[in-house]
Amino acid sequence: MSLLLAAALIGYLSGSVPYGLLLTRAAGLGDIRQVGSGNIGATNVLRTGNKKVAAATLLLDALKGVVPVLALGALWSRDAGLVAGLAALLGHIFPVWLGFRGGKGVATGAGVLLAAAWWVGLACAVLWLVLAKVTRISSASALGACAAAPLVALLSGDLKLAGFALVTAAIVIWRHQDNIRRLLAGTEPRIGQKKA
Ligand code: G3P
Repeated sequence: MSLLLAAALIGYLSGSVPYGLLLTRAAGLGDIRQVGSGNIGATNVLRTGNKKVAAATLLLDALKGVVPVLALGALWSRDAGLVAGLAALLGHIFPVWLGFRGGKGVATGAGVLLAAAWWVGLACAVLWLVLAKVTRISSASALGACAAAPLVALLSGDLKLAGFALVTAAIVIWRHQDNIRRLLAGTEPRIGQKKA
């Protein structure tokens, strides 16, 4: 039990690092929370027009999910890795450093799923890319990929993995309430479009 608590703490601390905010500040792009949707994730960083910083945000936000799952999964147990992954996702969404107002968890959730079961993460990433190509809307693509995640995981017959994917996806979908409202109203911006 104490190992799982330690895993949760380590995962949370990993996930709570707001790379989007730190990188945009370091690049002199101002406070990303004052741009577009106000989100600290890669989609909103792209609205600054700086593709390199957006790509770096995407990579680091994914890695902060990947690393705790893989490291604690190898060092302690599969459960410790999964607990650390969920905690990393929550750390990204509710970072103590930003008054618990963080990101939406798409990149970190994808990283967590990729590390928990690479084929689930890969399938979701491919689906995201296909949906993004078709819709040009990041949130719609993320919602579609999230909806598919537990179903893809279920194909393996691993119920724990399917449950894990379901919880991960549900948290990310729940965090997209504003986006869902904008999608329904037809006002959600396209990828790279500045106004959100
Ligand atoms: O990665 C988050 C994405 O799904 C939506 O971001 O900035 O358009 O709310 P944003």
